[in-house]
Amino acid sequence: MDISGVEQRLKEAGQSHLLCSWPELDTEEQTQLIQDLESLDFNELNQFFHNAMECSSSGEKKKLDSRMEPVPTEALGSATRDREKLETWKEMGLRHISQNKVAVLLLAGGQGTRLGVPYPKGMYDVGLPSHKSLFQLQAERILRLQQLAEQTHQTKCCIPWYIMTSGRTMASTKEFFSRHNFFGLCAENVVLFQQGMLPAMDYTGKILLEAKGKISMAPDGNGGLYRALRAQGIVEDMAQRGIECIHVYGVDNILVTVADPFFIGFCIEKDAECGAKVAEKIDPAEPMGVVCKVDGCYQVVEYSEITSETAQRRGPDMRLVFNAGNIVTHFFSLSFLKDVIDLHEPRLRHHVARKKIPFVNAKGQLIKPDSPNGIKMEKFVFDIFKFAKTFVVYEVLREDEFAALKNADSLNGKDCPTTARQALMALHKRWVLNAGGHFVSKTDSHHPAVSSCNGAADEQIICEISPLVSYGGEGLEKMVNGQAFCSPLVIDEAGIHQPMMDE
Ligand code: UTP
Repeated sequence: MDISGVEQRLKEAGQSHLLCSWPELDTEEQTQLIQDLESLDFNELNQFFHNAMECSSSGEKKKLDSRMEPVPTEALGSATRDREKLETWKEMGLRHISQNKVAVLLLAGGQGTRLGVPYPKGMYDVGLPSHKSLFQLQAERILRLQQLAEQTHQTKCCIPWYIMTSGRTMASTKEFFSRHNFFGLCAENVVLFQQGMLPAMDYTGKILLEAKGKISMAPDGNGGLYRALRAQGIVEDMAQRGIECIHVYGVDNILVTVADPFFIGFCIEKDAECGAKVAEKIDPAEPMGVVCKVDGCYQVVEYSEITSETAQRRGPDMRLVFNAGNIVTHFFSLSFLKDVIDLHEPRLRHHVARKKIPFVNAKGQLIKPDSPNGIKMEKFVFDIFKFAKTFVVYEVLREDEFAALKNADSLNGKDCPTTARQALMALHKRWVLNAGGHFVSKTDSHHPAVSSCNGAADEQIICEISPLVSYGGEGLEKMVNGQAFCSPLVIDEAGIHQPMMDE
């Protein structure tokens, strides 16, 4: 195999070490490595590295406190404090959905390292009675919402679902959806596309090998979205379908209200180019970024970028001053997205994540470092907030809309399968109570299992309502009003079940 061309390019780019184990590779490995190397643009990579490192070192230790201000009231809407406007927003959102103007876009290209499963996080089963995966819950919410829009406006409609995967998650995501017949959605309305990957590098910009013939590659962050939208013609696809607004969200929020008509309607009423749904940050030490203004522009500020004094500041109402917790749920108008991909995003630099990255050294040995030895370069989906001419923020209750799945189960675990499952079942229990049903004790049916003040003595209620029956608690009265249930309770298209649970 003639590799002189590749050798020359690597030499010019200062990356000749990538061929250090070349003679030991078999033909298949050699062919793959050459293919991988040819797909890389070394000039661009060196530029990314240089810019990212420059930005990272100039930003290091400089806290943002003095440049920050909270979201102003005129940009805020609230699911709890603006009750009189909710019906208008919902009507507007459902109308746009019924006119086929709304799409949803799922960020599912992450590696899910903290959860630690070898398959995409969306395929995870948190252990609900139905054993539905996150993907299935989201698909069924889309189906139900289409139905609600159709019923309200007497017209057939569809919410296209764009799913961003990465080189590491594409094949299994595709296979999972095909195997499950797209969970009842039309296959042509589920559009999978792939985000870019970038090589991991050491602190001098040398690309790392994860095996002798294999470059260590990682997805380019959830802000890789914009480059992928451009590269794969996704915005054109949206325009052809007549889409005007897009709800973008992360795969790992089990409570996500996909294409939430209230949020969509609120953003449309405000004529917003971009919106963020937030949940109140209550604990200043919680590792949750906050939406705020920095030097007059909207941004998400991570907990590591401010001092603890600023994180702890409270207003006259005793709420944290910076309390607009980012839950990775955003609204974009299509025209804004077009500007972002054509004009703004290419100018943004990558962020640097310093990580422990296993690598093969010059002697061909695999080294597993115990402290960070290199970087991954990422952009974030919210990096482009600052370009929006109109930006709005919509506050929702965390227990209704946000429970993240980040970590594996462990004792006192946070954001893990157990907490995600419990959050969904607690929400569904409240839906049953709000619709006039009640729960009685398993051991004594004369005793309520849930006290009226929802106290700590409540029995742990197992309750799951299929999204195909109810998107947000609607339509349950006729099924549960005036009735007593004991746990476990499952309500799905086939009716009400009280299944035996596994021990
Ligand atoms: P996280 O930042 O929590 O990362 O992603 P993760 O990959 O899910 O988990 P860890 O950090 O490896 O444990 C937030 C959202 O952004 C998506 C994820 O799929 C998730 O929906 N994401 C993240 C991407 O789509 N692409 C990426 O490159 C990174």
